[in-house]
Amino acid sequence: MPPVTEDTITELAQQRWATAHDPRLAEVMTSLVRHLHDFAREVRLTEAEWANAIRWLQATGDISDAKREEFILASDVLGLSMLVVQMNHRFEAEATPATVLGPFHIDDSPHLGFGADMSDGLPGEPLYVHGVVRDLDGKPIAGAVLDVWQADGDGAYESQLDVDEARLRAKYTTAEDGSYCVRTIAPLGYAIPMDGPVGDLIGRTDISYYRPAHVHFLIDVPGHERLITHLFQEGAEYLDTDVVFGVKSELVVGFAAHEPGPTPDGGESSTPFLTARYDFVLQPVREL
Ligand code: BEZ
Ligand code: FE
Repeated sequence: MPPVTEDTITELAQQRWATAHDPRLAEVMTSLVRHLHDFAREVRLTEAEWANAIRWLQATGDISDAKREEFILASDVLGLSMLVVQMNHRFEAEATPATVLGPFHIDDSPHLGFGADMSDGLPGEPLYVHGVVRDLDGKPIAGAVLDVWQADGDGAYESQLDVDEARLRAKYTTAEDGSYCVRTIAPLGYAIPMDGPVGDLIGRTDISYYRPAHVHFLIDVPGHERLITHLFQEGAEYLDTDVVFGVKSELVVGFAAHEPGPTPDGGESSTPFLTARYDFVLQPVREL
């Protein structure tokens, strides 16, 4: 082995990692070594800064658990999550675009019927989100499951609170004609968790740490790309500065205000309510 110097270390480290048994791991690790070394050279990383960075990573791991995914949050605010989503979901222009999953999805939400209320009496403006799930040819998809979740009026997700019951999350199944109807409360913009290492870092910048009002959707239909996305309220604050870069214009939807009367699920409301109409268009899985 040649002597280890500032000039040879990168090549030596890359050679070692190129021995990874899986060729893809070898490719990823050698590239990571090259970029890390280039980064350290470019910013002339000091030992104190290196130690701070290690402590920050340590704290990010320490605060993380099944309910709090601080590394995902870090990836989100760095724009890395959205970059990875966009590279891996290059859908047709007519298909509903994908965005970040975020750290607050829970797998086992309860199944609710057409138009059933997932807000379960929580305070807020009643909102119906309704439309059709269809494919790129316009064919409605029956039996598609929409996994839906959102934050409460304080910007908190169920997984951030000490509650056992499902709260502001549910799975809805499309009817024979592909239609769905979610009854919830109007979402509000909220701050990402700022009490951890990510918040600590953001607090030292001018970055807005808010997300615009949104509802999350995950739709997984065989033969189609799994769609993870959100709908955002038109005119909401922070649409232009979303801290996780998740907004796409195609996902911004108007919320129409209604007086008491018939609702999109065929029922009747005795109080004023909002509606948002959106058709989800799924991208077929590409044949290899
Ligand atoms: C969310 O919308 O749930 C979210 C996404 C990314 C980071 C933080 C929150
Ligand atoms: Fe959210």
